[in-house]
Amino acid sequence: MKIAVLGAAGGIGQALSLLLKVQLPAGSELSLYDVAPVVPGVAVDLSHIPTGVKVQGYGKDNLADALTGCDIVLIPAGVPRKPGMDRSDLFNINAGIVKNLVDAIADNCPEACTCIITNPVNTTVAIAAEALKAKGVYNKNKLFGVTTLDVIRSETFVGNLKGLNPANLHVPVIGGHSGTTILPLLSQVKGVEFTAEEVASLTTRIQNAGTEVVTAKAGGGSATLSMGQAAARFCLSLVDAMRGENVVEYTYVETNSDDAAFFAHPVRLGKNGIEEILSYGELSEFEENAKKAMLDGLRADIAMGVEFVKG
Ligand SMILES: NC(=O)c1ccc[n+]([C@@H]2O[C@H](COP(=O)([O-])OP(=O)(O)OC[C@H]3O[C@@H](n4cnc5c(N)ncnc54)[C@H](O)[C@@H]3O)[C@@H](O)[C@H]2O)c1
Repeated sequence: MKIAVLGAAGGIGQALSLLLKVQLPAGSELSLYDVAPVVPGVAVDLSHIPTGVKVQGYGKDNLADALTGCDIVLIPAGVPRKPGMDRSDLFNINAGIVKNLVDAIADNCPEACTCIITNPVNTTVAIAAEALKAKGVYNKNKLFGVTTLDVIRSETFVGNLKGLNPANLHVPVIGGHSGTTILPLLSQVKGVEFTAEEVASLTTRIQNAGTEVVTAKAGGGSATLSMGQAAARFCLSLVDAMRGENVVEYTYVETNSDDAAFFAHPVRLGKNGIEEILSYGELSEFEENAKKAMLDGLRADIAMGVEFVKG
């Protein structure tokens, strides 16, 4: 299995690469690409950790080599938020970065599973889909927006509130990956009861959790360590699935449902990426209303991505 991290020298990229170096199955190859000149050093640094994962760094002129033969490509390249910005403020810079990197994936490893971390995910995934379509290599079963951070945050916040070990909780999160488009399904958390006030305040906290980090980092960026863990979890699930295990993760994928063209669903992963998009089940009245209220915004975010590529 060859896995590339594009943007590997960044805050997320380094945390993610470290977790993959120590957790990928022996025999895997980790391909680290960044435009920052430090990337070969990040690769050398990681290569001193004694695991069976081979690490290679690639600088800005070697993107094709970084991608050739890849099974999975993770993209955290781009700029993160500063206080006062929301994810859509990142669009102007990150849209072009994602488009160029996805064009290179289409040219060098069109069969790879592509996992988009770069914000605004609601839009950058649509950009990736259109870029792949323009190159004639789009496979909707192999394109993912990584929304796992919303899931792990939800599990943590519910665990903290209820005095439970978050590692044993499963909290479904559907929709998109910004503000009110993030929709945790607290009504489906097994063995935990919430009051209406708890549902309202937890939902708001989960939706604004990224801003909690941005504010606390006071201009130093957004979530990197928790995001590294979230992306590693998603990537390792994909690796397990590609090796024949039955794995379900929540991820932002093309559904073409009545909700929106892209929507985070529970997805059964397999050898070829998405095996089956599963139903997210019944929503409470609170969740149904929250979903209805955010759909127009999510659809507009997606349309902006399509427009960016089609012009
Ligand atoms: N999906 C999520 O849940 C989630 C969570 C947090 C952050 N993010 C997003 O992830 C992205 C990265 O965040 P970060 O904190 O790691 O930022 P960072 O600034 O620390 O790192 C970004 C890296 O991308 C590199 N880069 C820039 N342009 C590139 C290009 N064309 N090709 C390759 N590499 C390039 C930079 O050199 C840098 O090393 C941001 O867009 C951020 O908003 C997503």
